[in-house]
Amino acid sequence: DAKPKVRWLGTPISELKRMPECGGLLPPLKNVPGQHTVMIRTDLLQNGKVPVPYPAKFRDTWDDVHVKMPCSGSNLFPVEDEFRLSISSHSAQTANNVTAEFCGKTTNINRSLALSKVLEPDAAEHLFDSLLPDMVQLALRASELCTKPIPLLKRGMNHSITMSQEQVACLLANAFFCTFPRRNSRRTEYCNYPDINFVRLFEGSSSRKIEKLKTLMCYFESVTEQKPTGLVTFTRKSLDKPLNWKRCSILISQTQLTKLHITCEGTIEDDGYGMLQVDFANKFVGGGVTSSGLVQEEIRFLINPELIVSRLFTEALDHNECLIITGTQQYSKYTGYAQTYQWGGIHQDTIPRDSWQRRCTEIVAIDALQFRNFLEQFSPEKINRELNKAYCGFARPEEQNQNLAAVATGNWGCGVFGGDTRLKALLQMLAAAEAGRDVAYFTFGDSQLMTDVHNMHSFLTQRSISVGEVYDLLGQYYSSVCKSCLGRRPDVSLYSFIYQQVSPSLAPDESDRHSARQ
Ligand code: AR6
Repeated sequence: DAKPKVRWLGTPISELKRMPECGGLLPPLKNVPGQHTVMIRTDLLQNGKVPVPYPAKFRDTWDDVHVKMPCSGSNLFPVEDEFRLSISSHSAQTANNVTAEFCGKTTNINRSLALSKVLEPDAAEHLFDSLLPDMVQLALRASELCTKPIPLLKRGMNHSITMSQEQVACLLANAFFCTFPRRNSRRTEYCNYPDINFVRLFEGSSSRKIEKLKTLMCYFESVTEQKPTGLVTFTRKSLDKPLNWKRCSILISQTQLTKLHITCEGTIEDDGYGMLQVDFANKFVGGGVTSSGLVQEEIRFLINPELIVSRLFTEALDHNECLIITGTQQYSKYTGYAQTYQWGGIHQDTIPRDSWQRRCTEIVAIDALQFRNFLEQFSPEKINRELNKAYCGFARPEEQNQNLAAVATGNWGCGVFGGDTRLKALLQMLAAAEAGRDVAYFTFGDSQLMTDVHNMHSFLTQRSISVGEVYDLLGQYYSSVCKSCLGRRPDVSLYSFIYQQVSPSLAPDESDRHSARQ
């Protein structure tokens, strides 16, 4: 009984690389048409100063390749008068008045809603007399702050957008008041985009939604109290060609697994600071953050709310795509998870900034496949898909390997999406190896998984089994075990199969027998 509990295995986490220490020099921040949209004056960018929007005057655009702004003169608004439904056009100013009026209404709605019921009288007074009016003012500054048209990051595009945290805050204030035109129904032109307006967050009065709202209000409180001074970059990236993972392929065959630190304690966001942090995403990034979802992705979007603005312009991710978000700040702490989630108070983010004034927090949204049938995920087609998705998220071909931080990840695709943790851990290790990055894996309390994955990783590295060889073993497992078990769960687990194939003489150890039995 006195045996100390094993908390981690593999390489000590202190030996894995983190930003900013491991990073190379950034090139100067520059707007590059067709590649990188920068929404601020780069020549005036200075540590601790609020960035200056670029251009100086609002450029009103209303087309299908840019975000349609609430303050646009083309924001046609159906107005009901006594006799007919007419469409009236508003100049930016009138649109603003309408916005203000709308905000007033929303405020009234909220006043009668659950949020006010759960607040102490003082807190309610502060909300209605100070915070919401400040948020309205922030939302109304859209035409002053977000002067450059924001490109939609559409399917297949490789494009970055860099904007200030203040611009993000303004956009999110508009999302809160639901002012983004054409975005209140998913049936229209934005059917392939996530929801941005917060309407569904105000529906119902579940305690979960209250906790979500508290978390978001903490953000709005912070950014209205003191203007944030940093930048955030959103990069949509696609893999132009899927990799050939087979052993016979010359490129893959030699790659050895990289280092693994695996722990049953801690989280990606706390213990993976400075690493490339994986968002267990939905193809609509942010998943249910503006409605009722409350698992890994949604929680991350709530505590780092600047992530939410990606929903404004990021079309659903395709199989070979990811979204990388660099520079978001954490404003809140939390406790619990899903049903038990609670806002945990203000968080002071102390992550240093890079030379573009972004927090050194890089998050990559990669959406796993959702599996209803257990066996399906072992098919070569699905395995290729997941490998390429992870590789797209992890690989940075433009960077030197020595400058790449480790990947901080965990049970990607294995909660709501029903994937097998042991398979997914292996796939992520293969993708990380190919991308030249080490892995910090957080099992989220599962110590058996920690042991099993660590044993597998040691076994493969000790025998110098390459990425391509592991891939081929996965294929053999599918054709010789999965195909013949007619929909039932296979009686040989993937890991037992690999042990048997590589060293037939080796009796499976205790932990492995355990996983074969599950
Ligand atoms: N750090 C490390 N591991 C974690 C953390 C954390 N902070 N939080 C959860 N886990 P899930 P999925 C572990 O279900 O299956 C969202 O709605 C924990 O073991 O969020 O890929 C998205 O929008 C948990 O069970 O990811 C998608 O729609 C596991 O990670 C969908 O869920 C998986 O977390 C994606 O589902």
